[in-house]
Amino acid sequence: MSTISPTPATPDGHHAEAVAVAAERRWAVVVGIIMGIIVLLMIFAGVHWLSMPPSRVETVNVRTLHLQGEFVEGNLGTAVDGDGKVTVRLVAQQYSFEPQCLVVPQGVPVTFRGTSADAIHGFIVGTTNANTMLIPGFVATFTTTFPRAGEQLMPCHEYCGIGHEAMWAKVQVLPREEFMERARHAERMSCVPR
Ligand code: CUA
Repeated sequence: MSTISPTPATPDGHHAEAVAVAAERRWAVVVGIIMGIIVLLMIFAGVHWLSMPPSRVETVNVRTLHLQGEFVEGNLGTAVDGDGKVTVRLVAQQYSFEPQCLVVPQGVPVTFRGTSADAIHGFIVGTTNANTMLIPGFVATFTTTFPRAGEQLMPCHEYCGIGHEAMWAKVQVLPREEFMERARHAERMSCVPR
C-alpha cells in the first residue's frame, strides 16, 4: 500500500512527468534566449564604447591630489576669472565634500570641476540638473546655471561606504550682484564658516 514513487501513482502518472519535462525544456530554451540577448547586448555595448570613446577624458593623479595641482586645498571653492567665468572646484572623500558649502551666482553659467580622493562618489544639487559622478583619477566637469537664489542641499548619490548617507554639502545660490561683490574680496570663495 505504501509504494514510494516520484510521480503520482495514477494511470496517467507517466504522462504527467512528460508534461513537466516538456515545460522545463521550454523554460530552458526561453532562459537560454534571454541569456543570449544579454550577452549580445554586452558585446554590442563593449564594441560601441570601444569604437566611440567619450570625447574628453581628463585624468588627475590621486596620490598627489592634496599636494600639488588644481585640487590642492587652497584652490578649492569658487573662483571668478578675469573674464568673469565662474568655476567651482571640489574634492570628494569618505565622507565629506571639500568645501562643505559652495557659493555660486544666480543666472550665470557655473563650471564645476571635481574629483574624488578615494572611492567613487557623486553629487546632485537639490532639484537642479547639476549631477555627476566623481571617480578617483578622473576630473568630472560640467557647466550649469542656477535660475533661483537660495540654499540647496548637495548629497552624495553614489554608495561609497558606511558613511555614505551622512555625506553631503550645501550650495548657496546668491543673487548675481551679491556674488560678484563677494568675489571682489576673495580669490576662492566658499560659505564654510571660518
Ligand atoms: Cu560619497 Cu556616497
